Formats: sequence, C-alpha cells, structure tokens
Amino acid sequence: MRHFNIAVDGPSGAGKSTLSRRLAKRLRCIYVDTGALYRTIALWMMREHAETDEEIKDKLPELTVTMDYLDGEQHVFANGEDVTALIRTEAVSMAASRVSALPAVRKFLFRLQQSLAEQNSVVMDGRDIGTVVLPDADVKIFLTASPEKRAMRRFLELEQKQPGAQTFESVLEDVIRRDEHDMNRKISPLKQAEDAVPVDTSDAGLEESEQMLFQICKEKLGL
Ligand code: DC
Repeated sequence: MRHFNIAVDGPSGAGKSTLSRRLAKRLRCIYVDTGALYRTIALWMMREHAETDEEIKDKLPELTVTMDYLDGEQHVFANGEDVTALIRTEAVSMAASRVSALPAVRKFLFRLQQSLAEQNSVVMDGRDIGTVVLPDADVKIFLTASPEKRAMRRFLELEQKQPGAQTFESVLEDVIRRDEHDMNRKISPLKQAEDAVPVDTSDAGLEESEQMLFQICKEKLGL
C-alpha cells in the first residue's frame, strides 16, 4: 500500500487511543500516541522539579524523548528510560495538560512527530495533528463524545485499577477542566480542522465506532 497519514484528534476520553490503535492494526501501519510524548515530558519535569514555564524551557535541552515498538506496542523513553507505564497517572495527566501549552514544548515535539509520519504510514492521535502537525494528512478525523460519556469511560477505567479511589463527579470535573485548558490555550488549541470528518462516539460502541472510522479511511484512501 502507498504511504499515507491519518490524523485523529479530539478531547480526552473520546476513544482516540483505542480506536486509533485498532485502525492502525487494520490498515497495517503504526499507531503514534502523541499524548504519550507530552506525558513523558511532564513526568520528567515533575521529577526534575521544574515547575515554572522558564524552568521547564531551560531543562528541555537535557531531555531526549524517543519512541519504539515492543511487541507491537508503542513505548516511550525519557533519556533512554522506558517510562511507558509511569505516565498514566492523574498527576501526569494534569501536568501534561500544562506543559503542552508551552510553545517551547510543542516546538520540541513537532519535528519528532513529523519525521515519524514522513518515514512511516501512521495513524497519529492527539489534539493538533490535523491542524498543525500533519496539515496535509490523507485522512483527518475529529472524535468527540459528551463530557459525561467521556468521564464515565475514564471513571470505569480508573475504578478497575483503584476501586473507590475516585468519584464520578471528581473525574467529570477533571475532564471539564482539561477540556477547557486544551481548547483555550493560545498555541495549537484543540479544534477541529476544516477538512476533518467529525465522528461522535457518545452513543456508539467500540465495534461500531471502529467500523465508522475504517469506512471513512477506506473511502478517502481509495481502498
Ligand atoms: O491524549 P492524552 O490525554 O494522553 O494527552 C495528554 C495531554 O497532552 C493532554 O492534556 C493534551 C496534550 N496533548 C496535546 O496538547 N497535543 C497533542 N498532540 C497530544 C496531547
């Protein structure tokens, strides 16, 4: 198959990572989770106690973020250390939302994301993939779902890991706070690209959503 790039953007909890991973498998290309890259920077900065924008910016040259695939799964590395399992906490989520608003951080990851897409056919998910990182992507999808649905998915996921550690209300609050932050930041805010196809997963199951995405890609790629 020829080289192609698929951009999947949307707010957290809309199903981007699960659906993008499945889509990449079906299209036999790699899946790039760009949120994991922002999370890696956030975790490293937390460890380094870099808190202010200036401190984060000054520390960036000391960090190298890389990606690799182990057993078909994306792993992320901070200066060679595999941090894949460590970046999935709520603290890192909040810190990632903050560091991702900094121009220096976005610039730092921009080339890495573009070169991955140049060298491979990818399904890349994030917030600004269709608008900024891959404006010429062959397919652009904007995934959405209501805040309540997204919070419920996240809540059920967290409950499996740590039952009783959170309430639905607290997760919903976090979702709304993060949306606001991601949509209102000055640089590369979360927004739908003009040529993106919107897909609402509020009332669709996983299989149904996957099929919708696959159909859109098939049509656009002429498969
Ligand atoms: O998708 P996620 O929850 O793993 O993303 C973590 C944070 O990184 C989230 O607050 C938004 C930000 N992000 C971004 O600004 N741009 C991207 N392309 C991907 C993620």
